[in-house]
Amino acid sequence: MKKGLFITFEGADGCGKTTQLNLLKDYLEKKGYEVLVTREPGAKGLGEKIREILLGYEGEVSDRCESFMFLADRAQHVDTIIKPAIESGKIVLCDRHTDSTIAYQGYGRGIDLEEIKMLNNLAVGSTVPDLTYVFDVDVETSMQRVGSSKDRMESAGKEFFNKVRLGYIEIADSDPIRVKVINSADTIENVFKKVSKLCDDLIECHNFES
Ligand code: TYD
Repeated sequence: MKKGLFITFEGADGCGKTTQLNLLKDYLEKKGYEVLVTREPGAKGLGEKIREILLGYEGEVSDRCESFMFLADRAQHVDTIIKPAIESGKIVLCDRHTDSTIAYQGYGRGIDLEEIKMLNNLAVGSTVPDLTYVFDVDVETSMQRVGSSKDRMESAGKEFFNKVRLGYIEIADSDPIRVKVINSADTIENVFKKVSKLCDDLIECHNFES
C-alpha cells in the first residue's frame, strides 16, 4: 500500500507556524505531491464543536477536563482524517498535535507529563509524526503577534507561555531526530529555507511507493 508522510507544526501562539505551513503546502504541491492541510483542535465536524468549547467557553474549565477534550479531538482527528490520508499516500501537514498537549497542558498547566504522554499514545495509536517543526520565538514577540483579541488559551498570560516555550525545547531535546527547533524571530523567507530543507531531506529518505 502507498504510504505518505505526517508532518506537524508546533510552537507557542504567535510563533508563525501557520504561515510556514501554508508556504510548505504550496511548495510541495508545486513539486507534484498530494498534500492535506489540517489542524488541532477542531479540523472538521465533531472536532469543530470541541474547538468552539476549548477556545470560546467562558465558564470554568478544569485543567484535566481541558486535557481530555484536546485528546478526544485528537483521537477523532487521527482516526477519521490523518490516518486515512497518510495511508492513501498524502503528505499530511498538521497545525499542532501531540506536542501541544505536552507543552500546554503538561508544562503549562502542570498536568503530570508521563500521564499526558500515555494519554497521547492512547489517542494516536501508531500514527506518529515523521517530522515535527517547533517554531521558537521569545514570549514578548509572540504575544505582540497575537495582539489584543485573545481566545481562552491565549489569555493564559506570560508566565504560562514561558513554561510552554521551555516545554517545547525539552520535547525537542528528548527527541532530536523527529523534532527540529527553528528560530522564528528571523524573516519568513529565511525560516522557510530551513523548513523546506528539512522537508526535502525527509522526502529523500522516504519511499512513497512502499
Ligand atoms: P488556535 O487558534 O488554533 O491557535 P494557533 O494558531 O496558535 O494554533 O488555538 C489553539 C490553541 O489551543 C492554542 O492556544 C494552543 C492550544 N492547544 C492546547 O493547549 N493543547 C493542545 O493539545 C492543542 C492541540 C492546542
